[in-house]
Amino acid sequence: MITKPKGTYDLMGLDAKISNYINHEIENFMINYNYEFIRTPVFEATELFHRTVGDGTDIVTKETYDFKDRGDRDITLRPEGTAGVVRSVIENKLYGNKNDLIKLYYNETMYRYERPQSGRFREFTQFGVEVFNSDDVLIDAEVISLGFNLLNSLGLEDVLVKLNTLGDAKSRTDYSAALVNYFKPHIHELCEDCQKRINTNPLRILDCKVDKDNDILKNAPKISEFISDESKDRFNKLKSYLDNLEIDYEIDESIVRGLDYYDECVWEYKLDDDVALGGGGRYNALVKNLGGPELPGIGFALGIERIILKLKEKIDEQKINNFVDVYIMSVSEEEKIYAIKIAQDLRLNNVITEINGANLSLKSQFKIADNLNAKFLIILNNEDLQKGLITVKDNITKEEEKVDESVIVDYILGVI
Ligand code: HAM
Repeated sequence: MITKPKGTYDLMGLDAKISNYINHEIENFMINYNYEFIRTPVFEATELFHRTVGDGTDIVTKETYDFKDRGDRDITLRPEGTAGVVRSVIENKLYGNKNDLIKLYYNETMYRYERPQSGRFREFTQFGVEVFNSDDVLIDAEVISLGFNLLNSLGLEDVLVKLNTLGDAKSRTDYSAALVNYFKPHIHELCEDCQKRINTNPLRILDCKVDKDNDILKNAPKISEFISDESKDRFNKLKSYLDNLEIDYEIDESIVRGLDYYDECVWEYKLDDDVALGGGGRYNALVKNLGGPELPGIGFALGIERIILKLKEKIDEQKINNFVDVYIMSVSEEEKIYAIKIAQDLRLNNVITEINGANLSLKSQFKIADNLNAKFLIILNNEDLQKGLITVKDNITKEEEKVDESVIVDYILGVI
């Protein structure tokens, strides 16, 4: 038997239902917040991720799916969504109108060669938003609160935003230099990866899973000592906006994020335990670094599989359970012809309708209708049909009524 590749999964059953429910909520949010959908390719030139996510990051050094295509090009399956969106914004010159906000979202599969475990896959789905052309802290507040509100409205009310600021480019450079000075004398007390990170990305040492309880990390200089006054003002303003929006957040200086492109605010969405349901930040230099114009950006991405996992523990079953408005029962050929026609008419009138599509006995059809929590049963039988009548049963009160065949659709529309 050929089985699925390690770290992948087949979306089905309850997970698929929750996933549809999440997607539905996302679509509503995106309409109300006025974001436009964008789809970029699943694979991109390898160089794109080196220049955005960063050469020294775990994602690029250890986790990408890289291959040469038949034309000998270096190709990588996207490990995240921001790089492709930024590439597309530049390539399609989406920044044409200088006062327009560019507000984009995606909901797509990503690929990272990670060690599979609960909530960690090699193919996974991210819903993400990216906003370009505004450096206003108001947008920071909009974007952070959007993710928080979405998670809340999905049913995850205990979500907390863990918030930090990395300051502007100068604050980040000064801080990186201070970290290098601080860690150099302790280099041999750090894990193998962190010994490399000193040269490639010293900030990431603070985020190390292996060294996280090491006192050397705990006593390291804090980013707050290096933040410029301007960045501090931005951050204070952001906090007051978030207070006003009643967003539950907590300042956490250990949030430095695993990707290189961030400056100013960064954040993660967390539940009480440690997995991040999502994360993001501002990236004011990224578009320019990739060859585009000076165009500030900010965004976040949520891990859909992790949200499904959390919702499964607590979702209101009723919300996602099987249900249909009407189940149409038929046995004879004549009844079946009526059944499929009435079903079509009801479905085209937005009535969720199911028919006996498997030659079931009447008894089995009653059972199936109950399993589907059908609100009404349409019980067809030849005798009634010859008189132009159809039996409708309210499956909750169990009351039955005979309805004129010609008005059956209107009758159902009137009662549901
Ligand atoms: P990230 O923190 O690498 O950020 O990923 C965002 C979210 O994707 C994580 O918090 C997690 O929920 C989910 N995720 C990541 N890896 C896996 C995995 N192997 N299996 C399941 N879920 C996973 C980014 O990717 C940035 N592009 C976010 C962003 C957008 N920043 C600015 N704009």
